[in-house]
Formats: sequence, structure tokens, C-alpha cells
Amino acid sequence: MRPSERLDRIPPYLFAGLEKKIAEKKAAGIDVISLGIGDPDTPTPPVVVEALQSAVNDPGTHQYPSNRGRPEFREAIARFYDRRFGVTLDPDTEVIPAIGAKECIFNLNLAFLDPGTAALAADPGYPVYTGGPLLVGAEPVLMPLLPEGGFAPDLDAIPEADRERARLMFLNYPNNPTGAVAPDGLFERAVEFAGANDILMVHDASYTETTYDGYVAPSFLETPGSKDVGVEVFSLSKGYNMTGWRTAAIVGNAEALEHYWRLKTNIDSGNFDAVQLAAVAALDRADSAVREMSIVYKRRRDLVCDALGEIGVDVEPPRGTIYVWAPVPEGYDSASYCEHVLEESAVVVSPGSAFGPNGEGFFRISLTVADERLAEAVERLRSRGQHDRGGPDLSYP
Ligand code: MLT
Repeated sequence: MRPSERLDRIPPYLFAGLEKKIAEKKAAGIDVISLGIGDPDTPTPPVVVEALQSAVNDPGTHQYPSNRGRPEFREAIARFYDRRFGVTLDPDTEVIPAIGAKECIFNLNLAFLDPGTAALAADPGYPVYTGGPLLVGAEPVLMPLLPEGGFAPDLDAIPEADRERARLMFLNYPNNPTGAVAPDGLFERAVEFAGANDILMVHDASYTETTYDGYVAPSFLETPGSKDVGVEVFSLSKGYNMTGWRTAAIVGNAEALEHYWRLKTNIDSGNFDAVQLAAVAALDRADSAVREMSIVYKRRRDLVCDALGEIGVDVEPPRGTIYVWAPVPEGYDSASYCEHVLEESAVVVSPGSAFGPNGEGFFRISLTVADERLAEAVERLRSRGQHDRGGPDLSYP
């Protein structure tokens, strides 16, 4: 068997590696608590599940879906964008369903990049922004997201040669993994930059619906001129507790959507019709369930930030996403700290360095476990941290 060389260009997918470690610990009888992947633990809202049940009873949903998406789905996305963001979308030309944001983001790399070209990718960032370009034989050019810059890329610092070969830029706010929200003026500057350099701006809007402390996240498409240069990937995974449903939409620049669609018709056969109809129920009728989830995550965020403070790890409570991004305690790097808490406390957290070189020195906690388990996990981290700082040995288990 001879696998392709392109597979050697990328590291194993972060969360696949973590999944393996968790399975090994569990097989050894250890009560491991995973704060690794961002996978909402509470069920999909009943209104969505009921809509799926009724849609699946209709044999009309059992055949190949149209790759263009059901009109009901495209219209529901347009209604949602109008109601939520004040953005007008033409459901016929400016909306296409995607099988989750991951599929969409990866396929945009295939549709827009060739060897010799590049994608500008946030560092730290969601692994697909860098793995995607590498898998298609192009290059990711990293844009550092630094705490002192509000975790926004410095677009002026991007060298001329990189601007010339870049065909895509990935941004994502509220931001995974840092939890930062879009700084004022960033989207405007990105529109200008993309226009001046003939780059397609891709905004990953996977976390716009999960925000705290009165913050309301904007869509990139609210920015004047954005539709001329960009698209947005809106995912139902995190905000609507629908990770397993693989449902997202790409919206915005109609020409970019045509290229994506042309590619996609050759790769997959679209989203299951019944899932598209369930997504309509989510978009039209699940606002209160979504708001309720932000209340749950805020409670968990405060629990985590308070506990980290007690062991001397200072974090700025994030105003969005389902993550807390924290500096590793003194004496560790990202990988060694994550290894340490896994071995000593049976708690899984994600090493910042796995999200890019500028993630080194940080770790990420996902808030997607039940309150009691999260409390137990932070208690383990707290006792271990106190022990590491000279307190009694409270090693787990
Ligand atoms: C995460 O950052 O936890 C991701 O969203 C999981 C994934 O989609 O691979």
C-alpha cells in the first residue's frame, strides 16, 4: 500500500490524537474528564429533533438531495441573516448548504488554491486553516494572533510576496481557540486588504451565537463591501448543539459560491434533505434555546476562570466561544503541561501549540461538559496546581 505524499505534509488531526489518548485512559479504568474538543454536551433543541423526525417520515427526503440545497433551507438562512445581522442574502445565489464548516473550509482550499499559492491563516487557529492548504499542495502563511494585539492579525505586517501568492484569508471571530471577539475596525481593514490584493476573505462564523456579558457578535457580512471580496461560513454545530448533524452554510459572494459549488458537485452529494428541514426549524424557532446555552456556558466560564485564578493562572474571561484560553503555569510548555494534567489529574485539555506556533505557552479548556464534571475537573486542576506550588500531594486518582 502506498499512501499519498500529501498525507505526510500534515500532523495527525489534533482531536483524533486526543480521542485516542482518552480511549486508552478509559480502557485502563481511569475516570478521565475531557475538556479537549469543543463538542456541546447538551442535546439538540427538541424543536429541531421533532422537525427531523417528521421530515424523515416523508419518503420525499430519502433520495439524493440537490447540491444547491433545498429552497426552504436557503430561505431560512436568508431570513436568519436578515433578522439576526440585518444582512440581505439572495437565497438563490448567495447561500449554499455545507456538510459542516470543516467540509466547507477544506473544500474552499481545493477550489481556490494551486501549488505555488497560499492561504493566510490565523496562528493560533482552527487546524483546518493550515492543514487544508497543505493537503492541496499550497502553503499556509501564518498571521500571528497575539494577546497584545487583541488576538487580531496585523495585516500591514504581511509581506508583499505573501500578499501576491495568497488567494484566501481565513478569519474567525469570536475566535477559536483564543475566545477573542473581533476588534473594532478589523473587518473593515480585511475588506480593504482582500480587495487590494485580490484575495477571497473567508470568515468562519462558527461561534457568533455563543457570547457573554451583553456582547453580540457581528457577521463579517455586515461590513460594507464585504460581499465583493468575501464569504462567511455559518455553522449550526456549536450554537445549536448540532455538531453531529454536519450542517452549515456558505453565504456571501455569489461568484465564490459558484466555484465552491462546482467543486462540491464532484465530491459529495449534499446534505440529507431531512437534516436541511430540521435546520430550518433551528434557524426559525430555536433562538431561546441558543440564548439559554450562552447562559450555561457563561456559568461554566466563570467557574473555570475563578479556579484558574486560584492557582495563579490569570485569564481574561472570554466574551464569546465555548473555550477558555489560558497561559500554562510557570515551568511548563504547552505540551508538557497538558501531558502533566492528563497523567496527574486525568483531565484532558488542548495544548495551545497544536493550534500554531503562537499558541505555545497556552492551553485551551472547552466548556462542553456538564457542570458537575467541569467542577470536578477544575477541582482536580486546582488541587494539582496547589501541590505543584508546594502544597500537599493530592494527585489524582
Ligand atoms: C474544536 O476546536 O474543538 C473543533 O471545533 C473541533 C473540530 O471541529 O474539529
